[in-house]
Amino acid sequence: MNKPVPGHVLNHPAAFAPYQDNQRLRLDPGAEARAHQAGARVGISQAHESAVLHVSGSATYTDDIPELAGTLHCALGLAPVAAGRLLGMDLDTVRAMPGVVRVFTAADIPGANDWGSIVHDDPILCDGEIRYLGQPVFAVVARTREQARRAAALARQALRVEAAPPVLTPREAHARGQYVVPPMHLVRSSSGLDEAGIRARIAAAPHRLQGSLDVGGQEQFYLEGQISYAIPKEGNAIHVHCSTQHPSEMQHLVAHALGVHAHAVQVECRRMGGGFGGKESQSALFACMASVAARLLARPVKLRVDRDDDFLITGRRHCFWYEYDVGYDDAGRILGAAVTMVSRAGHSADLSAPVMTRALCHFDNAYWLPEVAMHGFCGKTNTQSNTAFRGFGGPQGAIAIEYILDGIARALGHDPLAVRRANFYGRGERNVTPYLQTVRDNVIHELVDQLEERSGYQARRTAVAAFNATSPVLKRGLALTPVKFGISFNVKHFNQAGALVHVYTDGSILVNHGGTEMGQGLNTKVAQVVAHELGVAFERVRVTATDTSKVANTSATAASTGTDLNGKAAQDAARQIRARLAACAAARHGGSAEDVRFANDQVWVGGRQLAFDALVGEAYLDRVQLWSDGFYATPGLSWDKERMQGHPFYYFAYGAACSEVVVDTLTGEWKLLRADVLHDVGRSLNPAVDIGQVEGAFIQGMGWLTMEELVWHPTSGLLLTHAPSTYKIPTANDCPPEFNVQLFEGENAEDSIHRSKAVGEPPLLLPFSVFFAIRDAVAAAGARRKLPPLQAPATSEAILRAITAVQAP
Ligand code: MTE
Ligand code: HPA
Ligand code: MOS
Repeated sequence: MNKPVPGHVLNHPAAFAPYQDNQRLRLDPGAEARAHQAGARVGISQAHESAVLHVSGSATYTDDIPELAGTLHCALGLAPVAAGRLLGMDLDTVRAMPGVVRVFTAADIPGANDWGSIVHDDPILCDGEIRYLGQPVFAVVARTREQARRAAALARQALRVEAAPPVLTPREAHARGQYVVPPMHLVRSSSGLDEAGIRARIAAAPHRLQGSLDVGGQEQFYLEGQISYAIPKEGNAIHVHCSTQHPSEMQHLVAHALGVHAHAVQVECRRMGGGFGGKESQSALFACMASVAARLLARPVKLRVDRDDDFLITGRRHCFWYEYDVGYDDAGRILGAAVTMVSRAGHSADLSAPVMTRALCHFDNAYWLPEVAMHGFCGKTNTQSNTAFRGFGGPQGAIAIEYILDGIARALGHDPLAVRRANFYGRGERNVTPYLQTVRDNVIHELVDQLEERSGYQARRTAVAAFNATSPVLKRGLALTPVKFGISFNVKHFNQAGALVHVYTDGSILVNHGGTEMGQGLNTKVAQVVAHELGVAFERVRVTATDTSKVANTSATAASTGTDLNGKAAQDAARQIRARLAACAAARHGGSAEDVRFANDQVWVGGRQLAFDALVGEAYLDRVQLWSDGFYATPGLSWDKERMQGHPFYYFAYGAACSEVVVDTLTGEWKLLRADVLHDVGRSLNPAVDIGQVEGAFIQGMGWLTMEELVWHPTSGLLLTHAPSTYKIPTANDCPPEFNVQLFEGENAEDSIHRSKAVGEPPLLLPFSVFFAIRDAVAAAGARRKLPPLQAPATSEAILRAITAVQAP
């Protein structure tokens, strides 16, 4: 075994402290048990509906579906250069490979050669222009997956290309004025200034901070890669099993590619092995290609992408580059801010425009900005087309203001928490966002007060300073950062959902809704809502695969709205059935329908008690409709895209985290010693699932900001980090030894499903506290009031660069 190195960060006593599990889940099992006994099916830590299937290996993912006889396998031949023109293809050698059945090129696609979700600029197969290294150019269909992959790997020899120099970085794209969508501008002044006036206000402020920041992208790294299995059906129809967050969009794009109507395409998804935004739009390329091959060969075709190819073909979180200029007062209050954000959109638009919109609408995070001038540019580059990733631009917007506030505090010599507080949105005043939505549900003050207290922030601030005063090599850092995250799609019409609830004559219940399950527990929560409404045991309710032939015209399961939308739609369906059952019960047993009570699988009516099953049997005999649809549309939303203003969010979710790190200033290695989280999920539908989401998002966001680094070769444009060997995501070992995650006591001010709040994305912003704790430790290694130019991800190299900068004379 290696000898311990004196002073090494991993020798820190806390580095190997036992994992304090009891500290982690601050649930109240007593209260939950009492609620359950009283008939509640929401607000309790119901195990995930697939937990047993997951851990026993019997959950069916797309690749586990038994293959039909005659199934063929597809693999993609990828462009070997990042830019240029396709001059020709010598596909005979590819066709001659063992097992190859057919090779398809763009010319074979019967309908549109396009899988673009908003702008139609995403060819399924290369149409002559080479847009990035890894772009699919041809598709091989063979008897086995292995044979298809071996043949597709001949792309480099088979493709004749004329290479051009690629544009790879957002800086280069911006310098050339090369964007995938027009630039966006959000300029807002609480005192009627124009942009020149705002810039003058900044210049005239008592203090000014100017700078730039780079924040890297992030691979979704869903454990189950992209996959589609397309089965041709009679009369030109097709059935596609697809790992996707957006079955309806897959349906439309497959219909487009095949040149058929939507009613000829059925898309089904039982579950994904993670999506994290990576399957919101980008599952389409694979769904379309598998469907085209299946149609043209009249055989079932499966397309399961290898991990390296998944990295090379699909996009991920946008990296951002910012330039900022802010003016502030002696208390650190921002008087005016100007920021330019440039993202790396990749070769096509995909979701880059709504991602930038969300970034601009989250630059405020929890802070009131009286004067702002924001400009967002989606740089067009010869790289994979970047897309949704948990937070959808929100994290990229909010980290910029946190970097600025951290810098202001350091420049003034104040505690960063005090500066953050001084800028918080007020209540009743100082509460209008740059996009003109008034923040009415602000709980950030009490939430941060509680976390400051529970985490012992002030005492630990003193302890960290004392530690650093006597520790020349190891430096500790501490940070407490807030989160405010807007919930709803900012495209108004996406905020709708449908559901179907069937009650069978044996009293068992089947639910289908438009949302998709990616591990987040959506089906569990929706089943809880239905069980609660009908007063039955959770086990009675089964949720089936998302299927475009059951609920039509669904939105992506995204923007954290899955439960808000589909929970409400399922509740609507269940309520209609309950009302019919109550009417039937009252007609048979007396009393009024309004007084019929459903709980614990029993029904109380006209002074009698009968089993739920018995009433269902009676209702069937009375010819009562025992199934119903349900629908929901979020009220009160508006968005003016041109003026960048309106009421895009139904409500806000809040949270805060306090993190403490130790950094080895000689090696740049660091360790998260402790994290305390207080997160607002309103009145939780399922505390265990919610805490799981908060913990997962925290660690995932920490990976983004500290260790996950994407590197493209500077001249060829090859993504060098295209496998787990070179791209490091966090593991269980990276969890802090002390990880206290608690849910904030409160309820949604809006009439959301049981007054809960969305939880999927907002906690991804909590580990800002880790990044700023590292920056705090780096600052402690340099001269007072020097601003560490730490960039994200804060890898050991980035940390060492920042240390070198603050130690420079
Ligand atoms: N949790 C798991 N386990 N797997 C996932 O893929 N995706 C996240 C989040 N939590 C994800 C997850 C993202 S990006 C979103 S938008 C939400 O879940 C979507 O689901 P919801 O709206 O039902 O919360
Ligand atoms: N999140 C996810 N997907 C989206 C959004 C969003 O805010 N807006 C449009 N598509
Ligand atoms: Mo989540 S990034 O909205 O799929």
